[in-house]
Amino acid sequence: MRDLIEAAKAARTMAHAPYSRFRVGAAMRDEQGRVHAGCNIENASYPQGWCAEPSAISGLIMAGGTRITEVAVMGNGDALCTPCGGCRQKIREFARGDVKIHCCTETGELIRTFTLDELLPASFGPENLA
Ligand code: THU
Repeated sequence: MRDLIEAAKAARTMAHAPYSRFRVGAAMRDEQGRVHAGCNIENASYPQGWCAEPSAISGLIMAGGTRITEVAVMGNGDALCTPCGGCRQKIREFARGDVKIHCCTETGELIRTFTLDELLPASFGPENLA
């Protein structure tokens, strides 16, 4: 878990968050054990910004990953920063319900671990379209 948290922490330092000043780092482990990290990237046209989680998912997909097996995320300070609703659904596309999501402080201390099922119960996913 430590490598994942350290990757999220490093990614957070790259956040482009001049408007909210809320810097987020996320990291995702793929089915091969590789770690992909990303940060939030805001935009002067506010709705065009995006979260750290899709940045990390983009890296995972571009590296040929197909599944998310573990997630770490952190925001500012010591406050709990869980993935937002939209990000939960984006993670869901590539993750089973038992995938762990580690929420950490900005210094990388673990606050709480959730499963995706806990954060997104009774979810809609690719199976629904099969
Ligand atoms: N943010 C994330 O990057 N991930 C989340 O799951 C929650 C919110 C970002 C979006 C925006 O740049 C900033 O945090 C404040 O909402």
